[in-house]
Amino acid sequence: MHKIVDDFSKTVVVPEQGIRLASEPEPKVREKYINELDRVLITKGCLDARIKGLAKEIEQGFADVDEITCVVVLKGGMFFAADLIRVLDERSKLRTRLDFIRCSSYGDRSYSSGSVQMYQLDAIDGKNVLLIEDIVDTGGTLKTLQNYLREKGKNFKTCVLLDKGIASSVKVDFIGFRIPRVFVGGYGLDYAGMYRGLPEIVVIKKELLK
Ligand code: PRP
Repeated sequence: MHKIVDDFSKTVVVPEQGIRLASEPEPKVREKYINELDRVLITKGCLDARIKGLAKEIEQGFADVDEITCVVVLKGGMFFAADLIRVLDERSKLRTRLDFIRCSSYGDRSYSSGSVQMYQLDAIDGKNVLLIEDIVDTGGTLKTLQNYLREKGKNFKTCVLLDKGIASSVKVDFIGFRIPRVFVGGYGLDYAGMYRGLPEIVVIKKELLK
C-alpha cells in the first residue's frame, strides 16, 4: 500500500504528487485509461483506512443518539457512502438508515455551472441527519444542500470525503482528505460521466478538461 501518512484517525492532507500510473502494477483499469489519467492521488488502501477513522469520528459526533439517517448526494457520493455506511454499521454503535438526494451542477464540464439542481427522495423531518458528499470544491453544492436540509433534520451534520480547501465559508463536520486543487475522478467522482467505477482517487489529465 502506498502510504500518504501513518495516521488515518484524523483528516489526512494529501500532497500534490501521487503515484505515477505508468509505474503501477498492471490492472486492466489502467490499461484502459492510461492516456486520460495523470496519476493516482489516493489509493484504495488509504481510502479504506481513512473511512474507518471517519466512522469513529461520526460515532463520537453523534454521541447522544443511536440512529442516524444517511442522506447520500448522488451520483458522486454513492461509492464513498456505501463503504462508510457499512463500516458504521459494522464498527459503531449507530444504527443507520439510507436516503438519497440528487444534485447536479457540473454537467459535462470541469467547472461548476453555478446553479444547483436538487431532487430529494424521502422526508427527513425530525431525523438525525448525516449528509454524505464526495467532494467540496467551490462549495456551491454543499451550501445549497445544507441550507435545504438543515431546517428539516433534527441533528444535522455533514461528511465529505475530499475537500480542496477553497470553500472556507462552508462548514463541514467530518472531512476525509484535504487534497490539492486538481481535477479528480474515480471512486464515484466523474468527468463528463466517466471514471466513477475506478477504485482509487485519480487525477484527470489537464489537456482533457474543458
Ligand atoms: C460534483 C460533486 C459535488 C459537487 C462539488 O457533483 O459530486 O456534488 O460537484 O462541487 P462544488 O463544491 O463546486 O459545488 P456534480 O454536479 O458533478 O454531480 P454528480 O455528483 O452527479 O457527478
